[in-house]
Amino acid sequence: MASTSPIRHFLDIKQFDAATLRRILDMSVRLKKLLGEGERPALLKDRVLAMIFERESTRTRVSFDVGMRQLGGETIMLTGKEMQLSREETLADTARVMSRYVDAIMIRILSHDDLLELAGAASVPVINGLTRVSHPCQILADIQTFEEHRGPIGEAKVAWVGDANNVMTSWVHAVTTFGGTMTISTPKEYGPDQGMLSDIADAGGRVELIDDPRAAVEGADLVITDTWVSMGDSDVNERRRILKPYRVDKSLMNLAAKKALFMHCLPAHRGDEVTSDVMDGPQSVVFDEAENRLHAQKGVLAWCFGWDEI
Ligand code: CP
Ligand code: NVA
Repeated sequence: MASTSPIRHFLDIKQFDAATLRRILDMSVRLKKLLGEGERPALLKDRVLAMIFERESTRTRVSFDVGMRQLGGETIMLTGKEMQLSREETLADTARVMSRYVDAIMIRILSHDDLLELAGAASVPVINGLTRVSHPCQILADIQTFEEHRGPIGEAKVAWVGDANNVMTSWVHAVTTFGGTMTISTPKEYGPDQGMLSDIADAGGRVELIDDPRAAVEGADLVITDTWVSMGDSDVNERRRILKPYRVDKSLMNLAAKKALFMHCLPAHRGDEVTSDVMDGPQSVVFDEAENRLHAQKGVLAWCFGWDEI
């Protein structure tokens, strides 16, 4: 058991060095193996995680809930609408109050600044369950998935095709931390914003922007896309029109390495950003990714509660 001070928030991949992330991933892998053998170490016995959802979720909500239970803890599920947040209590005050009741907070909230306000005032660990800026839990699960199938992520050539969004940003952070290379192909209308460009610059040349999606996936070990319309986006028709050339279909996948994997964090919109034959095809590991949300987040939870190894 490690020291619990300072508070172990899990807010972004880029807050960590590679060694710490590797320790979290090692715990995720170990917890998955133990679960497969019928063992559920009660590392978080009697601990309570509050989950606040300002937006919809299937995977994040269920996997955190089940993960806490498997670790011997419990969860409280809340939505912003039913809390005093909707009547203008501040996130900072909410954090101060909740820190007196629960042992950790996981939140899905669109504004990244709001996440930081909550974490800044909380005296218990806060976990980012997705903001408009990043989705770090997803990318830990993705890395766990890639490494199960293909080996070290630090040696991989990753290709992102489609909208420049939160999931893409966390992948940029992962490549910056672990190594490997990444190509990004987006239409100029939905390309990286200033914050993303600054994160890409931090990758020190390992992340390259390429206009043509076909050139971007050439030789890639991993092809990733995501919805064209993220939570908080409103220009649905415009997005579907402009992003159409960025659909991942079989002919695009055929340009990647022979053993390339396909990932999508889900929910997917079959026929828009990805065709069903790719989603359900032999290169797709999308449901392994979804499963690994559970295992990766158990590693995150263990780390937030002070564990460095199990
Ligand atoms: N990938 C993901 O975060 O899914 P949910 O929106 O269902 O939680
Ligand atoms: N980019 C998507 C991810 C959903 C899990 C969104 O933010 O809506």
